[in-house]
Amino acid sequence: TPLSQIRNFSIIAHIDHGKSTLADRLIEACGALTAREMKGQVLDSMELEQERGITIKAQTVRLTYPAKDGKTYILNLMDTPGHVDFAYEVSRSLAACEGSLLVVDASQGVEAQTLANVYQAIDANHEIVPVLNKVDLPAAEPEKTRQQIEEVVGIPADEAVEISAKTGLNIEGVLEALVRDLPPPEGDPQAPLQALLVDSWYDSYLGVIILVRIKEGTLRTGDKIRMMETGATYNVDQVGVFQPKMTPVKALGPGEIGYINAAIKAVADCNVGDTITHDQRPAPAPLPGFKPSIPVVWCGLFPVDADDFEKLRDSLGKLRLNDASFHFEMETSAALGFGFRCGFLGLLHLEIIQERLSREFNLDLIATAPSVVYKLYRTDGSMEELHNPADMPDLSLVERIEEPWIKASIMVPDEYLGAVLTLCSERRGVQLDLTYVGNRAMAVYRLPLNEVVFDFYDRLKSLTRGYASFDYQMDGYEESDLVRISILVNHEPVDALSFVAHRSAADARGRAICAKLKELIPRQLFKIAIQAAIGSKVIARETIGALSKDVTAKCYGGDISRKRKLLEKQKEGKKRMRQFGKVEIPQSAFLAALKMD
Ligand code: GTP
Repeated sequence: TPLSQIRNFSIIAHIDHGKSTLADRLIEACGALTAREMKGQVLDSMELEQERGITIKAQTVRLTYPAKDGKTYILNLMDTPGHVDFAYEVSRSLAACEGSLLVVDASQGVEAQTLANVYQAIDANHEIVPVLNKVDLPAAEPEKTRQQIEEVVGIPADEAVEISAKTGLNIEGVLEALVRDLPPPEGDPQAPLQALLVDSWYDSYLGVIILVRIKEGTLRTGDKIRMMETGATYNVDQVGVFQPKMTPVKALGPGEIGYINAAIKAVADCNVGDTITHDQRPAPAPLPGFKPSIPVVWCGLFPVDADDFEKLRDSLGKLRLNDASFHFEMETSAALGFGFRCGFLGLLHLEIIQERLSREFNLDLIATAPSVVYKLYRTDGSMEELHNPADMPDLSLVERIEEPWIKASIMVPDEYLGAVLTLCSERRGVQLDLTYVGNRAMAVYRLPLNEVVFDFYDRLKSLTRGYASFDYQMDGYEESDLVRISILVNHEPVDALSFVAHRSAADARGRAICAKLKELIPRQLFKIAIQAAIGSKVIARETIGALSKDVTAKCYGGDISRKRKLLEKQKEGKKRMRQFGKVEIPQSAFLAALKMD
């Protein structure tokens, strides 16, 4: 296929605006799958994605479209995730394409993520083709949405196609617009190979699969390739494309997107963003990669059963291959034993990884409270990054601590604005801008990330009945009056429960956690003191009264099988308990204790 008949595009949209539904329609319209194979949403293939209805990993499909001009085009579609945590995955999909299909729900209008994604696409020099989705809904206002796109997003929208991804209305109009409005890729098939490593993942049958976008040159089965960053070399066993099933091809040329299978064992050799070239005839320079992802939220993951430590290490390694934005390093905790300190792009990312570990790898885990990365400047002039509140040195050794800030854009209907502004100022937010788009306000705030990671998004959603949309980007570090709060159970510090907070919030948070732990820790045969302290100064205290009660007492000794069941259940529960001195703390207490409400 000549380059003039190739189009590479990603689909960008706010969450729930219909991106995956449209992708399915495009696949169907191009006949890549029979109706029978079109079960549910094809691109959201991970079990978890289907359940949560969100797109986590960028997926790709090659489509063949006979256009009205009589020529047959190859359309490579890259799906992108819609949630704020995964902005990084969006950026790597964008780097592999020349254009973006911007999906806007005509009944909702432009949302915060629509904007964030469009700005990323513009940064990637993309041509943007807007479409108005969900015009089948009575509440759809295509004309108003068109205006919004022009005013707020700043791109022409008078030619935006009106579609319904649900009913299939006007899908051909989308395909024609892609062919007409997107630029074809450029590149020389004879040039030394430059292929961008877009993604890699572990397939339990095939091993490591690499997704590439060929920029220059040609890649064939049997070629010996070299990763320019790591220097590793491999023989290519197979190259192919996703249609959306994996389909081998003889070669991939410039402008094409496809996969490589090369019996790669070492995960560390496949750095996303690296350039792949030929070993014998290497390209003079690598492609400009894309910015590496930086984890902003860290937490400790520990196996409930210490024997699972190696299994956990192995599973984390496999997950990391599927998800380059996830980081982990070994950690030991006095309370929890051997585990890993793990870095995530945000809270949803954290939840997803935790859930995958328990589902796909069958691991029972304890997770400590999430923490952001602080910069700690010691009096001796050295600086270190603090990923774990438990590692905070004595404050007399610390000259200053800096915490990360974000710049957040929040779009919200007028009637909820007051609640949103209050929430932001409670969280130490500084307003930068407040503008209106129709009857919706757009507030731009700087906020300390620390105040956002726990429950900001949930609070925002509930205060606005789900109408607010939110997006953020990192916005530097600033000195702050931060303290480490330790939690003591029967005078024993529980390292896994310590956390860092702004001094002004320390007393309130300390009291809230003590009160919560009082509810969460079951009564035991003796009195338990729960304390929160800054250094040696106790700032909050609760006491759990003693209780002696045999759980089987109410079985009257009569029904032996019921009694056994109860004991079994209790044993099962014990596995999820941790011993601190004489006290047992249930696993659920760890996360629940640090969720503010
Ligand atoms: P993420 O993958 O989570 O980013 O969401 P998405 O943008 O891919 O949205 P998705 O395709 O999952 O659609 C969200 C919801 O909108 C689903 O319930 C769809 O059935 C519905 N939907 C999508 N397109 C249309 C449409 O044209 N009309 C109507 N009425 N509903 C639609």
